[in-house]
Amino acid sequence: MRRGLGGRLRRLRVAAVPAVFVFLASCASNAPQDSLKPHGPVARKEDHLFFFVFGVATLVFILVQGLIIATVIRHRHRPGRPDPIQVHGNTKLELGWTVIPALLLVGVAFPTIFTIFDLAKEPTKNVLPVDVYGHMWWWEYRYPTLGISTANEMHIPTKTAVRLSLHTIEPGLPAAKGEEFAAGVIHSFWIPPLAGKQDVVPGRVNKLTISADEPGTYKGQCAEYCNLSHANMRLRVISQEQSDFNAWVAQQAKPVQVPASGDAAEGYKLFTGRATCVACHTMQGVQGASARVGPNLTHLMGRETFAGAMYDITPENLNRWIHNPSKMKPMRPEQGTGMPNLTQTGPHLTDTEINQLVAFLETLK
Ligand code: CUA
Repeated sequence: MRRGLGGRLRRLRVAAVPAVFVFLASCASNAPQDSLKPHGPVARKEDHLFFFVFGVATLVFILVQGLIIATVIRHRHRPGRPDPIQVHGNTKLELGWTVIPALLLVGVAFPTIFTIFDLAKEPTKNVLPVDVYGHMWWWEYRYPTLGISTANEMHIPTKTAVRLSLHTIEPGLPAAKGEEFAAGVIHSFWIPPLAGKQDVVPGRVNKLTISADEPGTYKGQCAEYCNLSHANMRLRVISQEQSDFNAWVAQQAKPVQVPASGDAAEGYKLFTGRATCVACHTMQGVQGASARVGPNLTHLMGRETFAGAMYDITPENLNRWIHNPSKMKPMRPEQGTGMPNLTQTGPHLTDTEINQLVAFLETLK
């Protein structure tokens, strides 16, 4: 008997340790993916609904638990007490505990349904459309009205309804007959400070509106398991004042500046030739270099991060990456998803050539 109790207590203690850590993690004040700190009107509406429903649920919890605890204490067995009166059925009570929860559910349903319809509404004023493409394992953004594209870091102007059309494609895989690209796998686009999750589903285009109040960088990630590097499929939304955003767009629209001499010029020759980079990457201004298997690299250095927003863009990281991409982010290039190790396949790049390629990449402002 005593041993059984001791074992149970020990198990409880073991279970309590992770529970305490999970609880403490919820106290972090600087968590960038905190969905309870909205930074835009869409996230705010969702936040209001959440707190309303949470409030109702908390009241119900306190009421029910309070009644249970009060009953247990008041009517507990004491020596000498007779058995309580035995009751079978109580119409008033039964009606009460059926009708009150039903009314509560109706009360919660109305704001929920109104919010769902409100969020699904197509914005009409001050709208910027962006096509989002989930790849294994990075995000591509194309701005159909601006004629530009970028990867992993999406720039948006503040106080603008950014209407996202969410697609999933795998240009590295063979496409079905009549299709431009192979259908991708399911992903979920999620930037907690700006909006809730929206699934990205093969064969259909889901919509999501996001909007940011202030300039800033908001972090998010893929929220639907999509195989090997799901956890590395991060993203950033960089919100800018309209003038800064316009300047960014103008820069993104420019073609590549071909370096005149030095390692960078050698790197450019490699990039567009022997190293076969343009077979997968877009380089604006280079004839035929518009592939979408990997990110558009024309303005690579204008980004803060690369490889699914995992690594800071530094010459050292780029060098390491080209030497062995799958070591920094697990991928399956042999199956058409991810960047191959070009030191061991295809062009079999040398250290000198990789240095030249990085020197070229560094010029891509
Ligand atoms: Cu894409 Cu998980």
